[in-house]
Amino acid sequence: MLLLSPFLFLILSTILPNIVAHPEKQEDVRSPQDIQARREFLHGAGDTLSRCRSALNGRSISEKAIKRRAQWARALRAKDGILVDKLSLGRRDFGTVLNTDHEQHRSGLGSHPSDEELFGGRIDCVLQPEVTVGPYWVKGEMVRNDIAEDQPGTPLYMELQIIDTTNCQPLSGAFVDVWQANATGVYSGVVSRSNGNRYDLANKERTYNRGIQKTDSDGVVAFKSIFPGHYTGRTHHVHLITTIDAGKTSSGTLSGGHISHVGQVFFDQDLTDTVEQDYPYTTNTQPRTPNRDDRIMQEESETMDPVFKYVWLGKKATDGVLAWITIGIDPRAVYHPRAAATVGGGSK
Ligand SMILES: *[C@@H]1O[C@H](CO)[C@@H](O)[C@H](O)[C@H]1NC(C)=O
Repeated sequence: MLLLSPFLFLILSTILPNIVAHPEKQEDVRSPQDIQARREFLHGAGDTLSRCRSALNGRSISEKAIKRRAQWARALRAKDGILVDKLSLGRRDFGTVLNTDHEQHRSGLGSHPSDEELFGGRIDCVLQPEVTVGPYWVKGEMVRNDIAEDQPGTPLYMELQIIDTTNCQPLSGAFVDVWQANATGVYSGVVSRSNGNRYDLANKERTYNRGIQKTDSDGVVAFKSIFPGHYTGRTHHVHLITTIDAGKTSSGTLSGGHISHVGQVFFDQDLTDTVEQDYPYTTNTQPRTPNRDDRIMQEESETMDPVFKYVWLGKKATDGVLAWITIGIDPRAVYHPRAAATVGGGSK
């Protein structure tokens, strides 16, 4: 028996990390309570969405949003030396999620679309049930807006606006934590069989494509990143967690507060198809899962449209994408998602 225990330890230490850090497995396990909670959530979601729709589409919120995004797009284009009058622009149409050819909207646009055409349109907030837990969420990430680091890929500028569903107004002072895979579908900070090369132990120390921002008075955070790549079993997506009443520590991360939202945001199929045609996305050897086969996206799309609206920033896909979405959260909700790791290897 005594001889067995080191052997057992060896076996367990080989097997356990893979079980613990396997995100797809985590997502599949649902307790009856989770399923019931989700049912209740979906039941109330329609009411909340229609209640907030008129508030969000009131002049002050929608005009500010159009101005903000148009200014950002102009600044980005000017910075990269792209000629504004030669842009080929696309946008996604609101209210459509799957199996829609968005190309028709792109070619339907005039050559000089107005800011209103490009950045306006009805604002609906996205509500997300907590059951979409965060695989590869790493606790203790830095508060910073540039999360691209040295990762090669198509530039992605994301604007996320957080709405308080109790009053349908922008939620300021909330911390939004985002994380995503790199161009070849690997998350930083986690070493696991299902995340790139599991023998690349140095990946534990990497922090690319992760970061946290605090919402401003319009409930808005912005990040500069690269367009995420795909990985086995999932379509392209960005994860987010919103924390309320938290503070920023002297070392630049979060402390305190409670998590009120855990979600994932997606991209149009034709957008990901286009991005995937360029290097280094072309070097990704993992099999692709189209949007229509992504179970999390399907679930989220049952009641709402969890897909980024976007414009291309230039003539080529590699010039980058500006994407935005409005997310409704109830700041009183308290969730306890499980982290896959903690920066610096501290306790969870
Ligand atoms: C993505 O990250 C992994 C792990 O750090 C790395 O090996 C790979 O080269 C990265 N992909 C690209 C395109 O740089």
